[in-house]
Amino acid sequence: MKKHFKTLTLIFLILTVLCGHAETKKGTPPHSIIPTPVSFQGRKGTFSIKPGTVIIINSSSKELSKLAATLNEALNHYGISQLPVTTMQQDRLPANSILLSIDNYNEISNKEGYILEVSKKSITLKATTGKGIFYGLQSLFQLMPLQGNSKRGPSPVKIPACKIVDYPRFPYRGMHLDVGRHMFPVEFIKKYIDLMSMYKINNFHWHLTEDQGWRLEIRKYPLLTETGAFRRSSPIGRNAGDDNIFYGGFYTQEEAREIVEYAAGKYVNVIPEIEMPGHALAALASYPHLGCTGGPYEVWTMWGVHDDIFCAGNEEVFQFLEDVLTEVMDIFPSKYIHIGGDEAPKTRWDVCEKCQQRIKNEKLKDSHELQSYFITRIEKFLNKHGRQIIGWDEILEGGLAPGATVMSWRGTEGGIAAAKMGHDVIMTPGSHCYLDHYQANPAGEPFAIGGFTTLKKTYSFEPVPDALNEKESRHILGAQGNVWTEYIKTSEHVEYMAYPRAIALAEVNWSPRESKNWENFIERLVVNMKRLDLKNVNYSKSAFGVDVGMQYDENSEKLKAVLKSDLPGAEILYTITDKNGTSSERSYKAPFEINAVSIIKAWLSDRRGLPLKISERKVWHNDAFGIKPLLNTLYDHRYQANGNISLTDGLRGDANSLINDWLGFLGEDADLVIDLGSVKDIQNVSIGLLHNPDNWIFMPAAVEIKISEDGVNYTDAGGNKPDIITPYEPLGILYSVINIRKKARYIHFKAKNIGICPKGHWGEGNKAWLFVDEVMVNSGL
Ligand code: ACM
Ligand code: ZN
Repeated sequence: MKKHFKTLTLIFLILTVLCGHAETKKGTPPHSIIPTPVSFQGRKGTFSIKPGTVIIINSSSKELSKLAATLNEALNHYGISQLPVTTMQQDRLPANSILLSIDNYNEISNKEGYILEVSKKSITLKATTGKGIFYGLQSLFQLMPLQGNSKRGPSPVKIPACKIVDYPRFPYRGMHLDVGRHMFPVEFIKKYIDLMSMYKINNFHWHLTEDQGWRLEIRKYPLLTETGAFRRSSPIGRNAGDDNIFYGGFYTQEEAREIVEYAAGKYVNVIPEIEMPGHALAALASYPHLGCTGGPYEVWTMWGVHDDIFCAGNEEVFQFLEDVLTEVMDIFPSKYIHIGGDEAPKTRWDVCEKCQQRIKNEKLKDSHELQSYFITRIEKFLNKHGRQIIGWDEILEGGLAPGATVMSWRGTEGGIAAAKMGHDVIMTPGSHCYLDHYQANPAGEPFAIGGFTTLKKTYSFEPVPDALNEKESRHILGAQGNVWTEYIKTSEHVEYMAYPRAIALAEVNWSPRESKNWENFIERLVVNMKRLDLKNVNYSKSAFGVDVGMQYDENSEKLKAVLKSDLPGAEILYTITDKNGTSSERSYKAPFEINAVSIIKAWLSDRRGLPLKISERKVWHNDAFGIKPLLNTLYDHRYQANGNISLTDGLRGDANSLINDWLGFLGEDADLVIDLGSVKDIQNVSIGLLHNPDNWIFMPAAVEIKISEDGVNYTDAGGNKPDIITPYEPLGILYSVINIRKKARYIHFKAKNIGICPKGHWGEGNKAWLFVDEVMVNSGL
């Protein structure tokens, strides 16, 4: 009987899913809920919440009373204060009431699921847990009108009649925040958690320890925060010097407990991350005997990966970590404790006597197996206390700890390997889930670490890779957005990077795979942005900007300006400014030609009520513009921008646009020829070069320029040559102009790669990058 009932429920659910799907496909969505529910059926009429409406709970549990209070708090914003809350007295629900009911409902099989029914007479919200009710309330809040003017007194809050059946696709829906590089006030951490919970995100991964700062009070080791929480200086921009400003701070245990409790009230679990064996310099600076060399160490004043890590041969290290984790477990009730495991160079271990002795004693093969020993030993300790570990995907190297959950960040490969081995996996690949990456063309964005992850790209993320079969797929617990804060100093900036991409991931994690629909999502997002405005969230509007680019049209063999928007059907307006002034406003219909040095400005005509965002790009028209250079050497596939034409597309790269504009040559020279089509009087030529040693990108050892009238006989062009920056100078871009004043048709540029990263550089001995962008030729006067 029970089984039969389940089958019927399943058929019902499939039908409602299909209906819901059909509904969301056409035109305007019937609701603006994010993440979109499994099924939404619109009905006739509305229910008005007003003074006089009663909230009924089906038991007098503390949890339900608190959830009723959450509802009352939301209504407060509409000027409706404190609806009475009563316990269910009779079977029939009286009119003008809102029922919150927790019971063992057969039709709700997911503990986080809920059923919300709004009729003209009443609202019923059912779930099997308080968490389900909480999520049902979030959906109900998103059905409420955008906040009215409560100053004018209470006005009825009208909710459209509907039935929602909903539950999450994945059990783990995460957002991460790095407080090691920069930290943020307790009040902001609460706001961060608050926003997560609005979108049914249920895990806050709190990255608490780093090379640049230890941020959690540990009572047994006070130096961790006395010394380890502060650094002398921080880098300015990317390798542009030091600010020499003392920076730091930490969260007391009391504050951490306050955050854990606050999060629990929002049904968010807080997962603390204590990094080991790497990213531990702040701890070593506090207790130098925990490192292989014994120090002295200093809390790091730069970003990156440091060679000094916890010594794996020293018993005191394990005692220390167990003591730390004991206090951590006392503060954080989370089943999962994150132990880091990423980016731990084995440089010190390879030459440390104690580490080598450990390798011998434990019959390990090498330092990778030593890392596995390290993590497994910590895992055993945490398991003994009823906890489980999560580690970054490097913990796969040298053998995975038996019960570890893997966080796959260097792509999805680590996650695939772990799932195939039967381990649980959280997907957070840099390509889609690193919210510290640029979200639009760097030209119009605040300085960021790099990358290029648009809102649309994040939304397109599918956490279950095709490479997994059904059984293996069940190990994918969900996805997480990561916010690393090397280049993010303020709470406002965190919000800008995290939102709205966190909302896109929330839908990826919660909603059925088949219901994903970009167009529909954007419509709902616009409404949600207005809700975020009411909460003073500094979300980014970059997805509502226009991307100004250049594209080679193979048919006409001409380079044309292309304006793109990720917004379906949006009209793009633009102007062009050149030496003759600014054109009138035009509506973009098709790619167009550029015939002079110009500035293109573009924006969306229909912004769905969002503020104007103008994108701007300068196009450096010149005699080489639009001529495909012939390349005699190969650029690396990771830095190929738009291919050869990127060198002559009129768009100059800057230090932020590594993947958008530059061609990167790894260990190779850049050797190329421009054919002007006919012999011309060349005044000058120029080549764009990037120097960014932090990223292993160096100025060339030399630049040679040769010219020819026939393409066979070349002579040295003469003229001044680019000033080559020495490898130790900070970041620089050189668009060097070389005066020639000779006749030529062919111009041969050769920028010689320095070959390998120089001695003393942190990439010493590895292949060096050479980055080249705009190559320009000016003839006549
Ligand atoms: C990481 O981004 N190092 C996990
Ligand atoms: Zn050691």
